[in-house]
Amino acid sequence: MKSLVLVLLVAAACAKHEDYIGWKTYFVGPSTTDQFKDLAVMVPVFELDFLSRPIIGREGLVLVKPEHQDSFTKALEEKGITYYIHADNIKERLDIDDEAIEAQNKLTMSRSGFRKPFDNYQPLEVYDNYLEDIARRFPNIATLVTPANSFEGHPIKYLKISTTDFQDRRKPVIVIDGGIHSREWISPPTVAYAIRKLTEDLTETEMLHNYDWILLPIVNPDGYKFSFERARFWRKTRSTDHAQGQNCPGVDGNRNYDFFWNTVGSSSWPCHDTFAGSRPFSEVETRVVRDILHEHLERITLYITMHSFGSLILYSWGHNGSFSHNAFALHVVGVNMADAIFNATLPHFPRYTVGNAGLSPVLLASGAAEDYAHYIGVPLSYTFELPGVFTSGTGFGGFTIHPRYIEQVCKETWAAIAVGARRSAEMFGKK
Ligand SMILES: *[C@@H]1O[C@H](CO)[C@@H](O)[C@H](O)[C@H]1NC(C)=O
Ligand SMILES: *[C@@H]1O[C@H](CO)[C@@H](O)[C@H](O)[C@H]1NC(C)=O
Ligand SMILES: [Zn+2]
Repeated sequence: MKSLVLVLLVAAACAKHEDYIGWKTYFVGPSTTDQFKDLAVMVPVFELDFLSRPIIGREGLVLVKPEHQDSFTKALEEKGITYYIHADNIKERLDIDDEAIEAQNKLTMSRSGFRKPFDNYQPLEVYDNYLEDIARRFPNIATLVTPANSFEGHPIKYLKISTTDFQDRRKPVIVIDGGIHSREWISPPTVAYAIRKLTEDLTETEMLHNYDWILLPIVNPDGYKFSFERARFWRKTRSTDHAQGQNCPGVDGNRNYDFFWNTVGSSSWPCHDTFAGSRPFSEVETRVVRDILHEHLERITLYITMHSFGSLILYSWGHNGSFSHNAFALHVVGVNMADAIFNATLPHFPRYTVGNAGLSPVLLASGAAEDYAHYIGVPLSYTFELPGVFTSGTGFGGFTIHPRYIEQVCKETWAAIAVGARRSAEMFGKK
């Protein structure tokens, strides 16, 4: 009986990722403004799915369906854009990733017997349990809030962390979210790690005492679960209340905010990965973040939304690449945060680049969270593209940074968050 169960389990594991048989990922390196423009034109034509965006001097990584590969590479050659294959057998790479995650599970389980979000790529339940556990153990500073359920009915949970129960109106509020794009698995751990650094592993007490925190590790629990169980590259929510909802569920949460909604870099076609939704804030998941931002707007000095990958700190305006009135402060604090990461990172991690979204004209996009927050009045608002590292001869890499690096990414990102909080308070806090 036991061996039958085992056989079935192995069969299930092998059946996984079969949808990606024949898909390929390519590194693409446009090097002139014209080439960036040419590449931008190709995005809808070949249904290009950028896992990381190219910038001058650094290639992007793009996922391409079998039916578009020949015409896509031909178009690249015509335009003189350099490219090379990253993975021509994606399923195999993803299977290796699964093994690495399984091995990491054994390692971390034996260490503590209790799974934590930053130990490994963890299922949704581990996050729910962690937030509940922290709220229980630190009742004087941590409050668990469940403002709504996701489309499929999973509670969307965040922690408010404060030594003064959010009553001291002079304190800056720092808001950090993750997991709006479900497949970017390295994002939620960094938010959970910030929770850890303010509670069970408090080493910088002023971080706890001087600020009020709102930490929301997984904005999009439905997509997160789906990316674990069904489709590794699932990016959107799982809502079906739009035209084509039954064939093509889901909305790109980071195109769904009410900021120049559905004007650039997003799609009106529900089957596309960048579908903007049937209207602004059609998704309960984005409404949760919107409501947090408005509730505390007067005091929010810093908002960060965690994505991957590319080692980038990006700021507004993401829909047209122009600088905002606050661009100088945005850039300076962005560089401060990147410096803090550089000081804490590993030598073979790529160095962060700081800039406005015009850095990568291929992926200008409307309806993004960071732009919306800045537009309604958050002075310092950023999208982080967390690092991806390619370990040769192993798994998918980049997008699924090896689980052994999760804690490293969390640590260096926390260093950036701490510096960002301090600088934002100096510049925009009420004294
Ligand atoms: C880009 O959008 C911002 C925000 O709406 C606006 O102030 C700016 O003028 C726009 N830039 C261009 C070149 O249209
Ligand atoms: C650099 O990192 C060290 C060790 O983690 C830390 O003590 C120091 O404060 C950091 N310096 C800066 C400028 O961030
Ligand atoms: Zn993303």
